[in-house]
Amino acid sequence: MARLLITGGAGFIGSHTALVLLEAGHELVVLDNYANSSPEALRRVLELAGPEAEGRLQVIEGDIRRSTDLDRAFAAGASPGAGVEAVIHFAGLKAVGESVAEPLRYWDVNVNGSQRLLAAMRAHGCRTVVFSSSATLYGYPEAVPIPESAPIRPINPYGHTKAAVEKMLSDVAASEAGWRIACLRYFNPVGAHPSGRIGEDPNGIPNNLFPFISQVAVGRREQVQVFGGDWPTSDGSGVRDYIHVMDLAEGHLAALNTLLAGGDQLLQLNLGSGHGHSVLEVIEAFGRACGRSIPHQITQRRSGDAAITVADPSEAKRQLGWQTRRNLHDICQDGWRWQHSNPGGYAT
Ligand code: NAD
Ligand code: WQD
Repeated sequence: MARLLITGGAGFIGSHTALVLLEAGHELVVLDNYANSSPEALRRVLELAGPEAEGRLQVIEGDIRRSTDLDRAFAAGASPGAGVEAVIHFAGLKAVGESVAEPLRYWDVNVNGSQRLLAAMRAHGCRTVVFSSSATLYGYPEAVPIPESAPIRPINPYGHTKAAVEKMLSDVAASEAGWRIACLRYFNPVGAHPSGRIGEDPNGIPNNLFPFISQVAVGRREQVQVFGGDWPTSDGSGVRDYIHVMDLAEGHLAALNTLLAGGDQLLQLNLGSGHGHSVLEVIEAFGRACGRSIPHQITQRRSGDAAITVADPSEAKRQLGWQTRRNLHDICQDGWRWQHSNPGGYAT
């Protein structure tokens, strides 16, 4: 059992990972400013984790850019005396379009925030960190499936911030002994916990396909716009590697175990399924899960999109002993359970 600091732990991926980590017996301190989440998510995480988790989750409302908040988080914990052994760093901003309009805010939260966090880690004698990176680093991939050795060529400010933090982490790893770092490059995280109690709850109009489809299915929006029907794919719509958020959460536990079991490390790993699904396939699969067809219309391509992005996840399997276990059917069943039992997200 370790004491862990989870930044951004109230968010979509953070809340599912917090549950998996509590179930694995860890003690958690979550630091979140609720910029894009609700405290209700963590209340539900505790409810799902049950009485065994009692006293093992402490929540601090605060900002990763503020050193006093970071100091509070490193000093907090369920059992006084032992320090934070590792950090799982989810906190950040993630909307590609918004990052184009507000690059300085993205550099501040994602890059400056990560720099502050790493400085606080050093000050508190913690040198183990799992970082939320992204397949967005690969930009327009030359070939699919994409291995970690593919060129890092992000094409928007959000992607630039993720590349900058990966660079910062590799500089830190090279600067002194003792660092154990995993940069996990997520592909397209979707779905929800099978209970339907926690899930993705985007603010406003969803930017991403999966929450958009589920909001159409529940009647919050009229129809899905399919961005392009003329891509060089089997049915003309874009292909992505959708990964169930519970598989992703388990990937974090596997990365943490690998870091804690070894010496100095700098891992840079894809977390994906290795399987691609088109937009039209996802719409069809979601329709089967919810028992009604999802209205959709093929429109123009969205600027900045690639035709196909699919992970080569073989390194994660080799280095972490982890691979996805859930398929598109599970993703849609679980995503629908969350959406129809919480039509307005955590607010309902
Ligand atoms: P999310 O927005 O649901 O979660 C991020 C959390 O960080 C939120 O709870 C938010 O309130 C918190 N936060 C934001 N700024 C903060 C700050 N300054 N201080 C403290 N907390 C702050 O997003 P998510 O989908 O759970 O993503 C988590 C991480 O994974 C992000 O770093 C994101 O860039 C990365 N990622 C996400 C995806 C995806 O498609 N969801 C894909 C690849 C990588
Ligand atoms: C998936 C597919 C769209 C919406 C983004 C970020 C990436 C990562 C994951 C954080 C594409 C199509 C979408 C819609 C559509 N996030 N689409 N209609 O763009 O693969 O990746 O989220 O790191 O950085 O860029 O995900 O869900 O937006 O799109 O047809 O209303 O669905 O064109 O083919 P994307 P997405």
